[in-house]
Amino acid sequence: MGLTFEEARDRVEALRREIEYHNRRYYTEDNPSISDADWDALMRELIHLESEYPELQSDTSPSQRVGAPVAAGFAKVEHEIPMLSLANAYSTEELLEFDRRVRQVIGRDVTYVCELKIDGLAVSLRYEQGKLIRGATRGDGDVGEDITQNIRTIRNVPLQLSEPVSLEVRGEAYMPKKAFALLNEQREASGEMPFANPRNAAAGSLRQLDPAIAASRRLGVIVYQLAQAESYPVEYHSEALEWVSRLGLPANGERKICRSIADVIAYIDEWAEKRHTLPYATDGMVIKVDSLALQQELGFTAKSPRWAIAYKYAAEQAETILRDIELSVGRTGAVTPTAVFDPVQLAGTTVSRASLHNEDLIRERDIRVGDVIVVQKAGDIIPEVIKSLADRRTFDYPTFAMPECCPQCGEPLRRLDGEVAWRCVNPSCPALIRESLIHFVSRDAMNIEGLGEQWIAILLEKGLIHTVADLYRLTKSDLLQLDRMGEKLADKLLDAIEQSKRNSLERLLFGLGIRHVGEKAAKTLAQAYGTMQNLMSATVDSLVTVPDVGPKMAESIAGYFATPGVQELIRDLEDLGLNMDYLGQRIEKVESPFTGKTIVLTGTLAQADRKTATAWIERLGGVITGSVSAKTDFVVAGEKAGSKLEKAQDLIRSGKNPSLQILDEGAFLQLVDAAGLRD
Ligand code: IVH
Repeated sequence: MGLTFEEARDRVEALRREIEYHNRRYYTEDNPSISDADWDALMRELIHLESEYPELQSDTSPSQRVGAPVAAGFAKVEHEIPMLSLANAYSTEELLEFDRRVRQVIGRDVTYVCELKIDGLAVSLRYEQGKLIRGATRGDGDVGEDITQNIRTIRNVPLQLSEPVSLEVRGEAYMPKKAFALLNEQREASGEMPFANPRNAAAGSLRQLDPAIAASRRLGVIVYQLAQAESYPVEYHSEALEWVSRLGLPANGERKICRSIADVIAYIDEWAEKRHTLPYATDGMVIKVDSLALQQELGFTAKSPRWAIAYKYAAEQAETILRDIELSVGRTGAVTPTAVFDPVQLAGTTVSRASLHNEDLIRERDIRVGDVIVVQKAGDIIPEVIKSLADRRTFDYPTFAMPECCPQCGEPLRRLDGEVAWRCVNPSCPALIRESLIHFVSRDAMNIEGLGEQWIAILLEKGLIHTVADLYRLTKSDLLQLDRMGEKLADKLLDAIEQSKRNSLERLLFGLGIRHVGEKAAKTLAQAYGTMQNLMSATVDSLVTVPDVGPKMAESIAGYFATPGVQELIRDLEDLGLNMDYLGQRIEKVESPFTGKTIVLTGTLAQADRKTATAWIERLGGVITGSVSAKTDFVVAGEKAGSKLEKAQDLIRSGKNPSLQILDEGAFLQLVDAAGLRD
C-alpha cells in the first residue's frame, strides 16, 4: 500500500482522467498515444487501488466497464419511442424525389443535415440524472434487448454525462476497421470462422453474454439522434447533436448543414472516396431535415421518418485477372491459399491479393488461375474473391489442387477429421517455426516491441534463434552482427525482450500458440490455475471445469504439455527468468460439492444479489450456465424461480436427469458458509 487515503484518492482520480483521455484518443481521434499494454497497466493500477480503498469505488469509474457477471440471457426492453429504420436511396434521382416530397409538404426550401451512415448496429442509450442506466439493441424496433453490461464496456460511451440530465440517445455501435481485421486474424488462427464484415462482428460482440468478451472487442459508438429532441431546449437536430457532444456523448462529427439538395449531392460526392480513410466502415450518407419543428410536420410512414433518407454508396467491386494462387503455411501448420491478381482500386486502396481461405472454397467457386475474377472488399476492408467468370474463360485452365506436400518443408500435408484446412504437421517446418515466433512476440502475446516479422526472419536466417527460448539468449554482440542494426536499436530490442520476462502468465500461454487457446481462454486458464506448473499438471477432467474451456480445448492443452520437448521448453524459459505466474487477481477455489459441476442460478435470493451469488458459486468451483439441461448438476432456486425450476423438476421426474439436485436458498447458503465464504 504505502499511500495515504488522500494520495490514493488523487491517484485514482488522475488514473480515471488519464484512462478516459486515452479512450478518447483511441476512439474519437483514432490516434492512440500509448500501447494496449500501457493502457492495461493504467487500468490494473486503478482496479488495484479501488480494491484497496473501497471508499473510492464508483459506478462511473472506467474500471466498471469490465468484469460484470455473465448474464443468463438478455432481458427484453420495450422502446418507449420506437426505433425506426430509414428509407434508402441509391441514385441522385431518388434524392431529388425525396427533396421534392419534403418541399411539397413544407411549402418552401428546407435545410438538411448530412451525416455519414455508420455501418454497425443501432443501439439506444438511456441516461437518468446524467448516469448511464440502460443500453439496448434495436430488436424489432419496438422491443430490443437489454445489453447494458456490454454497452458499459464500450470505452467511448460515457458512464456519466457532464450534467445531471435525463435523456435517451440513439447511435450506431461499430467495430473499428483495425480491430475487425485483428479479430478475424485471431479467429482464423484459432480455427474459428471469421466474421464477414465489421457490422456482423460488432453485432456478435454486443450479443455476447459475457461482458468480458464484449470488452475485449474494442467497440465504439457514434451517436446520431437525441430521442424526443423537441422536448429539450433545442430547435435543430444539428443543435441537439452539439448539445449531446457537450454533455460528453460521442456524436457523429462528420456532418454538414446543406441549404439545398444540390449541396447534399456535392457532399455525398465529396465523401464517396474519402470515407474509406475513416477508421470505421460507412455505407452511405444520411440526409435529415434539420429543423425539429419541420421534422414533426413531416412525420413518419409506418416504417420510417419522412424527414430523412439514407443514400447508399454502391458496394465496391472490380474485375481483374487471377495470376496465381500462392500457398502459405501459418503457425498452426494450416496451408492457406491466397489469390494474387492484377492490381485494382477498391474502396480507396490498391489491392492485388485476397485470401481464398481453403481448397473447398476454391473448388466450389471454380476459381482457376487465368480466370477473370470479381473482387470486393468485405465491409470495406478485407478483399475477397466473390466469383470467377467462367463464361469469360478463353482457355480451359486447370482446376486448382492442393499439393500433397508442404510447400515449405516438403513433408506430406494432412487433413484432420472435420477440418477444411490441410496442415503441415512437421513441428520443424521452417514456416511453422517462423510464424510461431512472430506470434510469440506479437502485441497481444509477449508484446516484444520492435521485434517484428522482418527481424524474426533475419534472426532465423542467421541461425541466431531456433525456438522462442533462444530470443532470451540473444546478446548484444549477436544483434550487432546484423545489417541495419545499431547500438541504440540493439539496446531497445534487448530491453523489450527483458521486459517481456515480467509478463503475467496469460501472455506467455497465448504466445505459446497452443491450438484452440485464444487470448481470452489464456487469461481464464491463468486465472484458474495461477501458475504454469499447476496448468501443466491439470488433467482434461479438471480443465473442462474452467468456464469457456470445452473438451476440444482441454484435450489440446493436455496434449500440448504432454508433447516431447514442451516441458523442456517451459523449463528453459523458466531458467531464463520468465515469470510463470498469473499476476492479476485470482479466484481462489475451495473444494465443495459444486467443484467441477454445472450450476444454474434462478429466481432471487433474499441474502445475496446475483453478482455475489455468482462469485460464491465460482469460488465453490462451480460453472454457471444459463439454461437447465440434461447436463445441469444443480439448480439454485431463489424466490420467484419460474420456468427454469419447472424444467429442472420435469427433468428429474421424467428421468432425463435423475441426479439433478435443486437447492433452495437455505441449502445453498449452508454450502457457502461451510466454505467460510460469507463474512
Ligand atoms: S438516423 C429514425 N443517422 O442506419 C431513424 N441512422 O438504415 C433514425 N445509421 O437504423 C436513424 N448511421 O442504425 C441515422 N448518421 C446516422 C446513421 C444511422 C447509421 C443506421 C441506423 C438506422 C439505419 C437505417
